[in-house]
Amino acid sequence: MKRIGVFTSGGDAPGMNACVRAVVRTAIYEGLEVVGIKRGYAGMIEGEFVPLHLNSVANIIQRGGTFLKTARSAEFMTPEGREKAYRNLKKKGIEALVCIGGNGSYTGAKIFYEEFGIPSVGLPGTIDNDLYGTDYTIGFDTAVNTALDAIDRIRDTAHSHERVFIVEVMGRDSGFIALDVAIGGGAEAVMIPEDLEDWDKLLKQFHRDGKRKKSFSIIVIAEGDEQGGALVVEQKMKKLFPELKIRSTILGHVQRGGSPTSRDRVLASRLGSQAVYALLDGQTSVTVGIVNDEIKLTSFEEAISKKKEIPKHLIQLAEILAI
Ligand code: F6P
Repeated sequence: MKRIGVFTSGGDAPGMNACVRAVVRTAIYEGLEVVGIKRGYAGMIEGEFVPLHLNSVANIIQRGGTFLKTARSAEFMTPEGREKAYRNLKKKGIEALVCIGGNGSYTGAKIFYEEFGIPSVGLPGTIDNDLYGTDYTIGFDTAVNTALDAIDRIRDTAHSHERVFIVEVMGRDSGFIALDVAIGGGAEAVMIPEDLEDWDKLLKQFHRDGKRKKSFSIIVIAEGDEQGGALVVEQKMKKLFPELKIRSTILGHVQRGGSPTSRDRVLASRLGSQAVYALLDGQTSVTVGIVNDEIKLTSFEEAISKKKEIPKHLIQLAEILAI
């Protein structure tokens, strides 16, 4: 193997640049050449390739987003799209791929290997932390810290005006961000898709808080919660607790950007480097993750089909500390 390609795919996440840097530097250290593929699978189909040298990845470790850009490609889902991508890779002499993204990106890489025999290794890049095969995904720590910073500010207004604030954080299908933010932000309640009793618990909490006379409260809700988002819960709560002054804040994409935390930079660097070693070792169709501080390879098959469990003890901790 002489030349590999690297690309970012799906939603961007802070730390993706640090990860590409680690892939490029490790590959060059081991005598390989690296080509960057712009805009994920879309760029593979359009032939958007850039040679990456040591200097190409200088001064990016601290930057959010992805300098390679990212996209979701409907065309890659078609056999014709994949055929075009394959021809472009062949022309460029790219023999293997490192793909930084989520389940959709792994699925594309898996099919691609089955059809054309181009080996790939996947790296978990998403702020949601909902990928099986790793304790943490690249970008999660930064997103949580960004949301926490916002909550600390909201808390000032909540306290000054004696209000209830419902803060919606990202997490399309999962509550990892919400749970960490709720614990770190000292929230009175947390609502996540993995806990179907959270609305009942919230009501109990507010009846109890009414008796205890808490003057202000923070509720953290994941955007994917089964009750709907912050605005829906605000309307429901206003009907049930007309005496409370309730406001909602949706943090949205602010959580996706910004300079990665040290944890995300180190995680991205470790994973990026190990992806190259996995390819050199002859691995394919696997993701590289870190579980209990050890590098772990998981087949795409397993990573895609298994759901990462939310830590139940953290749900309990959030409840206990909100008393
Ligand atoms: O998967 C990461 C994520 O940020 C989710 O939390 C969110 O629902 C989604 O991406 C938003 O996607 P888009 O940027 O395409 O609106």
